[in-house]
Amino acid sequence: MVDDILRTPGAVRDAERWTAHNYHPLPVVISSAEGAWLTDVDGRRYLDCLAGYSALNFGHRHPQLIAAAHAQLDRLTLTSRAFIHDQFADFCRELAELCGKDLVLPMNTGAEAVETGIKVARKWGYQVKGVTPGQANIVVAEGNFHGRTTTIVSFSTDEDARADFGPYTPGFTVVPYGDLDALTAAIDENTVAVLLEPIQGEQGVVVPPEGYLPGVRQVCTERDVLFIADEIQSGLGRTGATFACDHEGVVPDMYLLGKALGGGIVPVSAVAANADVLGVLKPGQHGSTFGGNPLACAVAVEVVRLLATGEFQRRSAELGERLRAGLEGLVGKGLVGVRVRGLWAGLDIDPALMSGREACERLAARGVLAKDTHGSTIRLAPPLVITEDEIDLAVAALAEVLTA
Ligand SMILES: Cc1ncc(COP(=O)(O)O)c(C=O)c1O
Repeated sequence: MVDDILRTPGAVRDAERWTAHNYHPLPVVISSAEGAWLTDVDGRRYLDCLAGYSALNFGHRHPQLIAAAHAQLDRLTLTSRAFIHDQFADFCRELAELCGKDLVLPMNTGAEAVETGIKVARKWGYQVKGVTPGQANIVVAEGNFHGRTTTIVSFSTDEDARADFGPYTPGFTVVPYGDLDALTAAIDENTVAVLLEPIQGEQGVVVPPEGYLPGVRQVCTERDVLFIADEIQSGLGRTGATFACDHEGVVPDMYLLGKALGGGIVPVSAVAANADVLGVLKPGQHGSTFGGNPLACAVAVEVVRLLATGEFQRRSAELGERLRAGLEGLVGKGLVGVRVRGLWAGLDIDPALMSGREACERLAARGVLAKDTHGSTIRLAPPLVITEDEIDLAVAALAEVLTA
């Protein structure tokens, strides 16, 4: 095909012309997808190794999820929470059971789940723990990524995410990630919660030292502080377990969930916690027009049912070992570091060779889509329906990119 009849360049130009430039996408224009594969407007196929930042854990257009969405679209899409709808209770109960918690509070985006967690922790601090009014504090980690609201970016340590968005919300203390002593020292009588990603995804799939999460659990229990695990990216099968916390047998007081909960179809997020925590909220104190809507619940309950089979967690664990073996074979051959948990990998490319962006552009040219994160780090998070052969294909493409 000659360049001037390709649809991609014009579509890229139009997208750039009509949107704020708050993203820097790769110049591919996707028009359809199935399973782990994407097709662009010019008919080129790509293996999806990002999966919508883990929002597509079950692949594109999983038949069970699409069927649930279609059926719900034909019946009822929105009521608001002013009324109860017939999909609501099943979703909340089944998600609560998956999490081993009493209650669920549904929202839409991940950032809203984080905001909900912060609000609940503060209210719990004042009403249950007895913290002095206005003094509640939450301990967070360096390198965190919890979303983009003004409160959340207030405690980001990424200047791109934070600079010029002040005045900033007070009430957060930042400590180094993975350092239990620093975290313990930061806790005082006003501390209501510790908010952590059990694995820092945006930071490059950074896994904390073994023992860190159990240590955080223990100190939170001892000091009457809520442990809030942001499993929005790490949860729901991505790491080879339902939750990343499961790898160390840790149960937080609050799970924050999002992304894959919506099956890649609708934005669905949720907070799951016990009644002594979520029970602090009373009518009128928190909510969202679209939170827990019928379409969202109909899809998300099927997501929970897929997870309840254990199949996706198993696939992620088993195929993750293949991914690990492939990627570790490239260390010293263009990669300087690799971190893998299930089907989730952070790869550090030798910065002398190329940037992460350049590597992703070269991967795209070979039919594999991934996304750089910081500098020379790229993140692989393929849909959990990916096959062994497709993993080999992705690793082979990466090997070519690193040696070309
Ligand atoms: C760990 C974590 N928390 C929260 C968020 C925010 O989710 P959303 O983009 O849906 O607001 C993200 C998004 O990448 C995330 O990775």
